[in-house]
Amino acid sequence: MKYTQFIIAILICSVLILFCSNNLNAQNKNNIDSILSKLTLKEKIAMIHAQSKFSTPGVPRLGIPELWMSDGPHGVRAEISWDKWEHAEWTNDSITAFPALTCLAATFNPKLSKEYGISLGEEARYRKKDVLLGPGVNIYRTPLNGRNFEYMGEDPYLASKMVVPYIQGIQQNGVAACVKHYALNNQEKWRTHINVEVSDRALHEIYLPAFKAAVEKGKVWSIMSAYNQFRWQYCSHNEKLNTILKKDWNFNGVIISDWGATHNTKQSALYGLDIEMGTGTDGLTHSLKNAYDNYYMALPLLKMVESGEIEEAFIDDKVKRILGLMFKTTMNKNRSFGKMNTKEHHSTAKKIASEGIVLLKNNNSFFPIDTIKKIKIAVIGENATKKMTLGGGSSELKAQFEISPLEGIQNKFKNATVLHAMGYSSGPSIYGEIIPTEFDNKKLKKEAIEVAKKSDIILYFGGLNKNHQQDCEGDDRKSFELPFGQNELLNEILKVNQNVGVVLISGNAVETPWILKIKALIQGWYLGSITGEALAEIISGDVNPSGKLPFSFPKKLKDNSAHYYGELSYPGDSINQYYKDDILVGYRWHDTKKIKPQFAFGEGLSYTTFKISNVGANKKVYKQDDKIIITTTVTNSGDREGAEVIQVYIGKPNSKVNRALKELKAFKKVHLEKGESKTIELQLNLKDLSYYNESISNWELEKGNYTIFVGNSSQNIIKKLNIIIK
Ligand code: BGC
Repeated sequence: MKYTQFIIAILICSVLILFCSNNLNAQNKNNIDSILSKLTLKEKIAMIHAQSKFSTPGVPRLGIPELWMSDGPHGVRAEISWDKWEHAEWTNDSITAFPALTCLAATFNPKLSKEYGISLGEEARYRKKDVLLGPGVNIYRTPLNGRNFEYMGEDPYLASKMVVPYIQGIQQNGVAACVKHYALNNQEKWRTHINVEVSDRALHEIYLPAFKAAVEKGKVWSIMSAYNQFRWQYCSHNEKLNTILKKDWNFNGVIISDWGATHNTKQSALYGLDIEMGTGTDGLTHSLKNAYDNYYMALPLLKMVESGEIEEAFIDDKVKRILGLMFKTTMNKNRSFGKMNTKEHHSTAKKIASEGIVLLKNNNSFFPIDTIKKIKIAVIGENATKKMTLGGGSSELKAQFEISPLEGIQNKFKNATVLHAMGYSSGPSIYGEIIPTEFDNKKLKKEAIEVAKKSDIILYFGGLNKNHQQDCEGDDRKSFELPFGQNELLNEILKVNQNVGVVLISGNAVETPWILKIKALIQGWYLGSITGEALAEIISGDVNPSGKLPFSFPKKLKDNSAHYYGELSYPGDSINQYYKDDILVGYRWHDTKKIKPQFAFGEGLSYTTFKISNVGANKKVYKQDDKIIITTTVTNSGDREGAEVIQVYIGKPNSKVNRALKELKAFKKVHLEKGESKTIELQLNLKDLSYYNESISNWELEKGNYTIFVGNSSQNIIKKLNIIIK
């Protein structure tokens, strides 16, 4: 086919696709209006609240199916009973556990986020779920937040870039993503009632951008409201948050309450909640015939509409949105069948794990460890064998298999003698309860030290776990230091053998008082089904690490912005909480206040070396609609392939308002063979440099001088450029 014919063919196809999709939308709209006209008020009310733990009813008389939801966000959760939180004990609901979202964010690779979404969406379809409750994009404000591992880090730009493809991937399967928790659920402590006070500016610049991107760019079909209050209104029926979402961003999907996050009938009707889930969470324990009838948006709402206190139009709007979601999911005849536990899903999970693991310290090339060597490797630490897909709250998973770090090391290092010692025990934990360990920790420590003495190399697998008050929903961590006596254990090990590499399995930063004494450090996240294999490939050097931290690692807790301002800032006084750190969250705080973190946002090492050179901008002076194009050459100057993440930050000196020294505005991951160079372009829109001006309740682009910072971490800037906006 000739070039012109080819172009004409493409144009015809595009017009046809546009015509068909417009037609489909129009058809769906007609169908929705026609269905709505046939529904009784009772049927409508039934559709806007739960009928079981994870489903809402349809209307059998009209062939409208039920809607089934499932957690999210790292895999499809095991089947839960109709009325109770207990597992249904099915034998066919074991799934692929994908790496936690902190790991996904650490890949700095939006393409992998799309793959993640596609694979997870396929598993959700196979399990006959219509709504997958994830991803989570609450901003990482404090390292104590028990749920950070489910989120995408501390930077709104990174989270926005990563969330969009995840949503698109899930939804291309005819499964709705449900972005959570809207909004300001940045800690678990007192999450069900705490009232968050934050400035409009921080709200718009830090806490909302990822939700906005999910709506405007990701076109997400549902959003979950958060438990907490914002300015004295619960987020499930918060007038301001609802106006931003449904009016300012034109969100035409469904707002689903978090489980038990609804508190008021009238406000729910008026301020946007579309589906109420989980109220009085133990289902039928109420005395009336059906506890679900007692939901705020059930009989009480029916009465208010019947009495004329609430107009039926409010209910119609909710039902229309639900039907709209159903036409894309459960009533979409064209959606795929889905699949589960396929080789492709495992390989996607592994790719994400491998690209997300972050190498933070590597003295004298401790890593990689040669697999040929006939050495003695000690694997020490409970996290070498602990199943991390279990626990953590609603993101718990029933993985079909989970390769532990110990298994991964044993399989990879066949020539070595692998010795193992547990070192410490955290004890089991049942959601909300800590159960004392049955192990004698003194004995475990002694065994570990004996093993350490005998070994050439020590791989210490520690960190946090998914127990209550660790990386777990429902409460926060109690302290920043490593739990279960690990600091002491590490110090004792280091007394008998200094050849120690630490692998932290956690979704949060921890205090690292032993950092100068150990040889190497890997941030290993929660990696899901293929944990051990992915870690062993990094440790052996089969895969070159390329992950970057999606949050800052402070040296001490007080160095973190939320903690700096004392208890009212975090965790609050149990009633109110004031985000006194305002817009200076994470690296924005560390940079601006010149408080050096232990490890910086965007930091991560490689087994090869990179050079970033020839950094330039397309102009010196920009006008309103111009694009800023940054070019740079990245060279792999080491002796093996690898990938580097080029990061572009922007700062506004002499701004009329307080600003962070710099903010991430573009990044690109570049894969390079050894010796290879690539010249890359990173594009920014001028409007991305705006700040939220509270006096006009809108974004404003200040004119004048700006600084562009280009580097490979927020603390390692290779080149600064000055530009002017006229
Ligand atoms: C969590 C949500 C979750 C829901 C259903 C809530 O406790 O906050 O993230 O989707 O439970 O399990």
